[in-house]
Amino acid sequence: MKFFIGLMAALLIVGCSGGDSGSTGSDNANGGAGKSASSDGAKPLVVFSQANSQDPWRKVFDAETKAAAEKLSDVMQYDSQDAGGDPAKQNNIIDTFVVRKPKVLLVSPTETSVQGSIEKAFDEGISVILLDRGIDSEKYTTLIGGDNTEIGREAAEYVAKRLNGKGTVLMIQGIAQATPTKDRKGGFLEVMKKYPDIKIIEGDDCGYQRQKARSYMETFLLKGEKIDCVYAHNDEMAIGARLAWDASNPSGPAPIFVGIDGCQQEVVDMIKEGKLDATFKYPTPGAKGIEIAAEIIKGNPPKDKKIVLPTEIVTKETADAYTKANPNLAK
Ligand code: FRU
Repeated sequence: MKFFIGLMAALLIVGCSGGDSGSTGSDNANGGAGKSASSDGAKPLVVFSQANSQDPWRKVFDAETKAAAEKLSDVMQYDSQDAGGDPAKQNNIIDTFVVRKPKVLLVSPTETSVQGSIEKAFDEGISVILLDRGIDSEKYTTLIGGDNTEIGREAAEYVAKRLNGKGTVLMIQGIAQATPTKDRKGGFLEVMKKYPDIKIIEGDDCGYQRQKARSYMETFLLKGEKIDCVYAHNDEMAIGARLAWDASNPSGPAPIFVGIDGCQQEVVDMIKEGKLDATFKYPTPGAKGIEIAAEIIKGNPPKDKKIVLPTEIVTKETADAYTKANPNLAK
């Protein structure tokens, strides 16, 4: 009996050591099956650190990630945590996840400053899949997300065409230290160089939030400066700006409003009503992230450092078809 209890205790210790995450250091190369994926019978752990779970885009993103992980519950254990938009909190969450020795860490960084904890996880031999936002480091396995520079370029071409190459654009910006913000701005400004008669006003960082963009736009409109277009780095801010415009008792014609994400029925409806002019789909990367995590568990790490998800423009003409083709839009 004593021997049996001792044996059980030894097995438990091995079980709790979380050997699933594989070896540390270079021989695992953050992608291979690792030395012990499930050799002790426990399923490999896949964890997800979400930047924030408050906005509509991320609610869709969280739900699809969870659903994809549930479908694969025979091959992985899944856990996730929301950092509430706070980089320090996200660093702590990741450090705590790492103690549990996951096989794969999925992270959507709040901003580039969470790279310290991500690099540490990678150095532990954990496969790191970045979702949507990037970091200023090569210490990750792959990044899955839309091509934000290309979205910025396409938005600029659309705006330039609508303005016939002449006018003033107010750009309402997302979180300054998040990579999509830099790219959505960079791609837009790059194309706008071809249109010297279009003036760009670089508006504030409104944190990708509707309310902040609304307040910013209210203050901006008090100046009485004429604008012909609002290019917002996401739909929530485009909606906020439009609401501020409508509340300001405008006398002249409304500017055109362009956003990014295309994940809400509310946005599609506003496009149909002519309250917004266009959005660019920014596909949520969670399901793909789980699919790649499962491949890593099987021993097939991704070959590419970037997996690009496609975009598409949504306008009045394509709004109904878009809703049909995207049944999971946030209501
Ligand atoms: C949500 C969000 C999206 C945006 C993405 C950029 O937090 O702001 O609206 O497309 O993050 O990282």
